[in-house]
Amino acid sequence: VRVGVVSGGLSHERDISLQSGRKVQHALRSAGFATSLHDLDGGFVAALRQGQFDVVFPMLHGGVGEDGGLQALLERLDVPFVGSGSAPARRAADKYLAGQALTAAGLTVPDTQLMPVALFKELGAAEVLDLLGFRMTFPLIVKPNSGGSSLGVRVVKHEAELAPALIACFAYCDVALVQRWVDGQEVAVGVIDRGAGPTPYPPVLIHGTHDGVYDFEAHYSTGIISLSTPESVSGLSAGALGDVALRAFNALGLRDLGRVDLVVDGEGVPHVLEVAVTPGLTDTSVFPFGATAAGDPIAEWATALVTRALD
Ligand code: DAL
Repeated sequence: VRVGVVSGGLSHERDISLQSGRKVQHALRSAGFATSLHDLDGGFVAALRQGQFDVVFPMLHGGVGEDGGLQALLERLDVPFVGSGSAPARRAADKYLAGQALTAAGLTVPDTQLMPVALFKELGAAEVLDLLGFRMTFPLIVKPNSGGSSLGVRVVKHEAELAPALIACFAYCDVALVQRWVDGQEVAVGVIDRGAGPTPYPPVLIHGTHDGVYDFEAHYSTGIISLSTPESVSGLSAGALGDVALRAFNALGLRDLGRVDLVVDGEGVPHVLEVAVTPGLTDTSVFPFGATAAGDPIAEWATALVTRALD
């Protein structure tokens, strides 16, 4: 079986994606697959056209690899691939739309307003939020409507910090989200479908975030945060957290794998922040931590997903 792993791409998460892609390539090679690693470039497209892959394994973070663009191409060319289809990936990548789908499924998400750059330039943040009836109670979080690894995310504690946070955010995306800050414990739950239906890995608690934000540096430098797989978080059992993750995964119609990021507040209420279609697989990433805790190393789960894609 010839597997083409795609990583890199042009998003802000290119370097992270290259690390994740190498992990998958190495794992699938060790499992006996003929595996090649590709950037999202002309060489990859030529290899696709020549029918060089039995299955493609997208490992792109952010941008066209996670927003359904690559998936739409693969669907069009009828090439089997691992992971979510184009429509669910597109919805999950749009955090505002994803939040609406999660709310419709009965899950709790932080109160959120869209702030397109054009509206911000015309009216200013306070005017827009006032118009939308969004109560400015601080702290707030400003984040890009698409993209991962917490790039462009800032906590806003006072009104004076709002405009600078939005301007910083617009470097990553033309649409920002202004979101109510939820005080609590940050948890991420990986979900995998090895053929018997989506199943959550143990919830991973993220300790030691900067000022309550799991920022880019904390994601990828060793020694800033630490991870654990507790039996419960603020009174909510690991099983209950897994159920929330499954509901979120299913509400977005995801396939094969994903990661659901949550904050559990002091009363034990889980608030879903976002859902990753292509979770990072670096040495400091949360998804592999949960998988390892479940006794499911990458060579095994990646093999299961490739096998499923070929069915
Ligand atoms: N966007 C990063 C890679 C993640 O979700 O892990």
